Amino acid sequence: MRSKPTSTQIQSLEEEHYSGILTITEGLPEWFDETARSKSIPIDIRHQEGFVAVSGQRVVGFVTLYVAEGQLHIGWLGVDKAFQRRGIGSRLIAAAEMKARDLGIDELATYTLGDSVEYQPYEETRHFYWKCGFSVYK
Ligand SMILES: CC(C)(COP(=O)(O)OP(=O)(O)OC[C@H]1O[C@@H](n2cnc3c(N)ncnc32)[C@H](O)[C@@H]1OP(=O)(O)O)[C@@H](O)C(=O)NCCC(=O)NCCS
Repeated sequence: MRSKPTSTQIQSLEEEHYSGILTITEGLPEWFDETARSKSIPIDIRHQEGFVAVSGQRVVGFVTLYVAEGQLHIGWLGVDKAFQRRGIGSRLIAAAEMKARDLGIDELATYTLGDSVEYQPYEETRHFYWKCGFSVYK
């Protein structure tokens, strides 16, 4: 006998994914503070587009996107702790890059905590963004 690993699929963010996204943010309090979890993210996911990673019926990752200043911006990004380091964040970024190309936008941007602030969780986040090819522009 052998079990087949559940594959993770990237899909467009829809209303049915909202509660799964909020569950992920509850598990990542080092990155998403109380205001982000209870106010900013619940509002923003209703008004931004984006993608989710779904494993079986479970939302295991998400990215939200909005256009501003001629760039496609990442609003929020997160992967369930139990599913990290399996390439899901990279696939969500790849989906965002494809979306930017479809929109005729040549830059994908995000605001994140800079290295002047010593905070280990965001050092990991910056590592991820470097690995994805991002560079500091301001
Ligand atoms: C950042 C995040 C989305 C990355 O998701 P992920 O699915 O784990 O990322 P990937 O598996 O695609 O990682 C790609 C590469 O990024 C780097 N990376 C990812 N997580 C890292 C970590 N914790 N520390 C150091 N490097 C890391 C690695 O080089 C990794 O490649 P490798 O696993 O082959 O070494 C996820 O860690 C997360 O949700 N973090 C908390 C929330 C957050 O930081 N959101 C963004 C800012 S709000």
